[in-house]
Amino acid sequence: MNINGKHYRTIWLKESNPGAVQIINQQALPFSFEILDLHTVDDIRKAIRDMFVRGAGLIGAAAAYGMYLAALEAKESDFDDHLLASAEILKATRPTASNLAWAVNLMLSKLLNKPGSLKQKIEEAKKTAEEIASSDAECCRNIGLHGLKIIESMASKKNGATVNILTHCNAGWLAFVDYGSALAPVYAAFDRGIKVHVWVDETRPRNQGASLTAWELGQHGVSHDLIPDNSGGHLMQHNLVDLVITGADRVTRLGDTANKIGTYLKAIAAKENNVPFYVALPSSTFDFSMRNGLQEIPIEERDASEVRFIGGKTPNGNIIQVQICPDSTPARNWGFDVTPARYISGLITERGICRALEQDIMAVFSACSETRVSEQL
Ligand code: MRU
Repeated sequence: MNINGKHYRTIWLKESNPGAVQIINQQALPFSFEILDLHTVDDIRKAIRDMFVRGAGLIGAAAAYGMYLAALEAKESDFDDHLLASAEILKATRPTASNLAWAVNLMLSKLLNKPGSLKQKIEEAKKTAEEIASSDAECCRNIGLHGLKIIESMASKKNGATVNILTHCNAGWLAFVDYGSALAPVYAAFDRGIKVHVWVDETRPRNQGASLTAWELGQHGVSHDLIPDNSGGHLMQHNLVDLVITGADRVTRLGDTANKIGTYLKAIAAKENNVPFYVALPSSTFDFSMRNGLQEIPIEERDASEVRFIGGKTPNGNIIQVQICPDSTPARNWGFDVTPARYISGLITERGICRALEQDIMAVFSACSETRVSEQL
């Protein structure tokens, strides 16, 4: 995507030093646009854990580059051991999004127990990480083209009037390598001259909607309004939402979907008000080994300080954190919730749109699931 006329991905290898991975620092957005250099597996671990990079697709790509840095760190004699240890470290950073373990396992499948010199293995690691990043971007581009059809059909039902789309968290290009999942159809529609407007849930406690989705949409020129997390139901009751599109962090073979905490409540409100509720995801977000999302998807619980404090900019431009509750108030902070498949109108994937039903998902992804299962063994 373009920032001030220059194209950026969210992660890439430094041109002047391919031993450094560069990222857009998402902790600094929306108040400053910063690029950080990461040199070690530990740098990547901290970047994922502390959410300098976040979003299912991007943490997968970051972990793949982390495995490339692991190959650079390894010695010929301990190559496989160092890669296995690094894989465990990277996989332990965040538990919910499938893409992370998927990318690390794919890297391991290309690198472990292979013949060849250290130099050749490093080359293979670099090539595979670059392929994972590019395929993430390409999947998202295709998600945009498939999802565009839903927005086009809504626009024609409304005789060309503005299509109002509600989204939760950030499933835009910042959450992937490029294009995004939930926002890719929005960008594709906007670029073709379809009138779109986005309701942006602020997404407490970390406010990815306010700080990242609002920033992205503003950079692209897409009309949007930031709304408090609790407004969606009211807007739906008053016919102000035509469509909900969210991203996903893990989707089971039955179509149950984990996404940012609060997504489930939007899905219930959408069903009650007959508003179509779509989930956009690349195939790397499926976990075909799981069926019942509520019982099986691991839900990350983050530090209570994210709930007890809120960050922002003061009128004189300082970025500060302030406490919003009494000094002794305890808090809990689950990062994700699961929306059961019955609330989902359809899954928008790089291979097309399907219902959130096992037979439909497996019809579209059976070949892919065989590869995934063998990778997970
Ligand atoms: O905690 P985050 O910011 O990594 O969570 C991101 C989300 O929940 C997104 O909606 C999700 O990753 C889907 S789009 C990649």
